[in-house]
Amino acid sequence: MSHEPADALVIFGITGDLAFKQILPTLQSMERHGTLETPVIGVARGSHGIEGIQARLRESLAAHGGVDEAAYARLCSRLSYVDGDYTDPATFTRLRKTLGDAQRPLYYLAIPPSSFETVIQRLTDAGCANRGARVVVEKPFGRDIESARELNRSLHSAFPEEAIFRIDHYLGKEAVQNLLYFRFANSFLEPIWNRDHVHSVQITMAEDFGTLGRGRFYEEAGAVRDVIQNHMLQLVGLLAMDPPTRRDAEAGRDAHATVLKAVRPLMEGDVVRGQYDGYRGEPGVAPDSKIETFAACRFELDTWRWQGVPFLVRAGKHLPVRATEVLVRLKKPPQTVFDEQGPGHQNALRFRLQPEVAIALAARAKTPGERMHGEDVELRVARHPHDELTPYERLLGDAAEGDTTLFAREDAVEAAWRIVGDVLDPDSAPHPYVPGSWGPDVAGTLADDAGGWHDPVAHEPK
Ligand code: BG6
Repeated sequence: MSHEPADALVIFGITGDLAFKQILPTLQSMERHGTLETPVIGVARGSHGIEGIQARLRESLAAHGGVDEAAYARLCSRLSYVDGDYTDPATFTRLRKTLGDAQRPLYYLAIPPSSFETVIQRLTDAGCANRGARVVVEKPFGRDIESARELNRSLHSAFPEEAIFRIDHYLGKEAVQNLLYFRFANSFLEPIWNRDHVHSVQITMAEDFGTLGRGRFYEEAGAVRDVIQNHMLQLVGLLAMDPPTRRDAEAGRDAHATVLKAVRPLMEGDVVRGQYDGYRGEPGVAPDSKIETFAACRFELDTWRWQGVPFLVRAGKHLPVRATEVLVRLKKPPQTVFDEQGPGHQNALRFRLQPEVAIALAARAKTPGERMHGEDVELRVARHPHDELTPYERLLGDAAEGDTTLFAREDAVEAAWRIVGDVLDPDSAPHPYVPGSWGPDVAGTLADDAGGWHDPVAHEPK
């Protein structure tokens, strides 16, 4: 596989929702940062003409941060358009012609997964899927393990694994990168990062809004498919994996996949599903929908490092705040030395991933005075990055460079589906919860022996 940069970017579905919300604004940002160096070819059904595509580009930029006229002009000058049906071989003949001498095109399939197979087949037939070609696909990577395997088979019919870039935008987040960096760039963590010292690990991904008009999409997904199988299990993997043993791109993915393969498949009792009141009345939602808008899960890892340490994960819509946080609680000191009242105190590491970025160590410090009493304090590094690199910009740039490090690998995706496979479509209805609450009360039982759920605050103090 060549590690030379891509020499053309082809976006299937350039008039679609994903392109509108994510890809086109990312292209402008890359243009501003001088990192977009290839021709961009948009492909879509319908006779939009290049003027139509340029107008759509302007509309997308205006709706997502604003139009930078200079960058827009440069982007338009590298943009061309091929229209046609994805089932029609003539579309791909035109694409081949538009690609000209390009040897290493990067194909972004911003289209429904149901069209992947046809597009891949037509690309192959038209001689567009040559050796240097790469392909970017978006989550969902299937609906369950069977469909994920099917999708992988289809991708592999034309592309080797190292040419397939499965985007999970959580892996492109600065704060998620920082989590990985913090774990493996410091020596003080490793001796305590195991079952001997860690009491429990928990992640909360809270959103203070509902499905934002995506009821129809959400009815096909639910919280487990939408964010637990991918974003949340990516985080579990990054928190739990062993240090990579080499420095190449595959080393991190090997370690990550290895630990995901050791996560025990969830059983019914490991999951609490919730649905906010009012969800069933939203457009596109069935009046008797059983889809969960909240899920709390308790994962167990069968490894020497983590045996017996619960990994608790909670994600939901219409919770009180929008914040994603990881809390690693450490075990208590073995003996009580100070005669203090109140709950036993635990050290903890807190990683706040969004909206602000912070890493904090919760500790006890003595309250001034005669008595040996203390208080909880946090040693905290808060970052307010001025980094303009969005996850999409980072990931699209990496895919263009041929760097697979931050992309989900086939075996890890399948491992994640195996973990959630038995709890995907239960017969029972989810527990109702009031919008603006922390989900159904019963979710608390999963975390009872882990010190309870930690609720992130809306804003990290300055
Ligand atoms: C998407 C889900 O993958 O991630 C959405 O489909 C969710 O439902 C979103 O809102 C959350 O992403 P972020 O980056 O805002 O945490």
